[in-house]
Amino acid sequence: MISRLLAAASLAALMPLAAQAAPKAAVSPDARADALIARMTIDEQIALVHGVMPSLMNPMPAGTIRSAGYIPGLERLHIPALKESDASLGVANAGRAHDDATALPSGLALAATFSEATAQAGGAMIGREARQKGFNVLLAGGVDLTREPRNGRNFEYLGEDPLLAGRMAAASIRGIQSQHMVSTTKHFAINDQETGRMIGNVEMPESAQRESDLLAFELAIEGGHPGSVMCAYNKVGGTYACENPHLLNEVLKGDWGYKGWVMSDWGAVHSLGAASNGLDQESGQQLDKQVYFDKPLKAAVESGQVSRARLHDMVHRIVREMIAKGLIDPPDPGKLDIAKDGAVALHAAEQGVVLLKNDHRLLPLAGSARRIVVIGGHADVGVLSGGGSSQVIPLNSVHFAPPKGAPPWGQGMWFDGSSPLKALQAAAPGAQVTFDAGTDPAAAAAAARSADVAIVFATHWVSEAYDARDLSLPENQDALIAAVAAANPRTVVVLESGVPNLMPWLDKVGAVVEAWYPGGRGGEAIANVLTGKVAPSGRLPITFPATLSQLPEPALPGADLPNETTPFDIRYAEGSDVGYRWFARQGEKPLFPFGYGLSYSAFRYSGLKLAGGKTLTASFTVTNTGARAATDTPQLYLKSEPHRAQQRLIGWSRVTLKPGESRTVSLTADPRLLASWADHGWRVDPGAYAVFVGSDAMTPVLSGSAKVAGANLRP
Ligand code: BGC
Repeated sequence: MISRLLAAASLAALMPLAAQAAPKAAVSPDARADALIARMTIDEQIALVHGVMPSLMNPMPAGTIRSAGYIPGLERLHIPALKESDASLGVANAGRAHDDATALPSGLALAATFSEATAQAGGAMIGREARQKGFNVLLAGGVDLTREPRNGRNFEYLGEDPLLAGRMAAASIRGIQSQHMVSTTKHFAINDQETGRMIGNVEMPESAQRESDLLAFELAIEGGHPGSVMCAYNKVGGTYACENPHLLNEVLKGDWGYKGWVMSDWGAVHSLGAASNGLDQESGQQLDKQVYFDKPLKAAVESGQVSRARLHDMVHRIVREMIAKGLIDPPDPGKLDIAKDGAVALHAAEQGVVLLKNDHRLLPLAGSARRIVVIGGHADVGVLSGGGSSQVIPLNSVHFAPPKGAPPWGQGMWFDGSSPLKALQAAAPGAQVTFDAGTDPAAAAAAARSADVAIVFATHWVSEAYDARDLSLPENQDALIAAVAAANPRTVVVLESGVPNLMPWLDKVGAVVEAWYPGGRGGEAIANVLTGKVAPSGRLPITFPATLSQLPEPALPGADLPNETTPFDIRYAEGSDVGYRWFARQGEKPLFPFGYGLSYSAFRYSGLKLAGGKTLTASFTVTNTGARAATDTPQLYLKSEPHRAQQRLIGWSRVTLKPGESRTVSLTADPRLLASWADHGWRVDPGAYAVFVGSDAMTPVLSGSAKVAGANLRP
């Protein structure tokens, strides 16, 4: 590897004299990229705009790592190869045996922390581990909204609200890219379900797109500056997302001024026309019908069908980001330290656990709980993780056969080897903590009857390419919980799930804890919350419906089609009113609302002050009125605009307070959240905007309104 000095010198040699004379910091990545491209042959340029999927190859090209993507570098110009790994929740394994990695909790768990600091720390941890394994591009930053609660990839993403998802994705991307890495954000755009993901066509008015899924991407990109954006498999408005000139050229590169490169999803390129329509790099090329961006692109450039300027732009975007993000001759990343990285995963998991119900203060487990029976969910082994390309497989993971219908190319169903049973035994040494596998409800009920407390672990596996058919717990687990709760009302249910589950047994159990897929230290995180070492502070980043009939699409679009080859349209009826906004619009009461989560302490909000003007600012005081230190997340919601009711999250704050302590919080609305998309811009109507401060989307505590001046904001 060349030294840093040599790299700087060799790049300087490629710069125009004027640039060389300027101080070093003044030489922009753009100028450096152009100087390098000026020295490239057309073949060298073409080689940078398409790449293989090494994990499908045998043998793999020299120097590649078994993973999702590889694009060879240009040694003579000191441009390193792009070595790409999936990384939504940790460095994905992609079939590399004996390669340890730290599994973060799922994206939904991360979103439930409402903590950008936690997302950034997680990103930095993944970025570091990825570099230690030799990667320099992470296929992370998933920000598709939870529009369809059955989506098998919701667990990879960051919930249903564009502000929350966009900010959390930005923070995670910043963390990754702090480590001399490029991160993507994906899958652009409206890739909100797996059913029919290769053939579904989303038809949605422009305003609804801009105010929901596109806003999440916009915020992720402006706050995180990802080096690359991965376009999606599906069609939007009749055109595949990876060859969609509106999405790629007009919105992303035009309106948002995006400077990085667009890489395709694996197998998402359908024509050479994608190059002119905004795609910069064809990924996983073996999965496409042909390698469009190799010989066909070269011929098209030579014949003038695709301009030389466009090829230059494609390469420029890639090389510019490699320079800007520090991929050229980065510092030594050090050695993998699973114990240190595990602490990051543990902290995120603890913060992401959401306490949904806690009657009679059943939790935290009291010292009087001498006999505790843990039931089901393979809690003796570990905690469930979600499936697909994001699958991280720490060395202590345990494999189980996936349910019927799981994608054949998947790696099955994995449990991270962090056993809640063992963690509880360690955390409650005075108690007798036993285990019942939960396979026989009657036997489990008998065990519960003779225990002081029963804790049922319920699991629901979903995966990329495997949506949940409904939101009920699979494999008779509802019956198991009902039987246990009938035997002992002091029953706690711990959910490990990638979807918002229905809970027909809710009234019968004492407590419910949503642990999502809690990652490589998830068992400990759950035990720490159950025993009270950690006060729960997670808040739901998605709405939990009471019934499927409350959803805008009671049936999963495309699920009734006989195969995955007949194209179909998806017309999401809710438009931009995703999740809680749909429930507010319809006046429906969900099982648990967005933003909801209980604590072991209690909080009071007071003294709301609102200021208007160009935008709206709210300040108020949060007081911990309970008996223990804990963290609260008060949320600020728009309730109505001048001419219509409109609910939107416009801000939140995570506040950690000692008993009796108070803090004043001030939140200012991004004007786009007060605006509507109209006439190719954001329009803020002049007038009174009503807002409330609440503990969740359905629980207003302080209300008021402020006058905001009208404005037309260009994108
Ligand atoms: C997924 C992407 C992933 C890629 C590479 C695709 O199936 O949709 O999220 O990055 O594979 O593994």
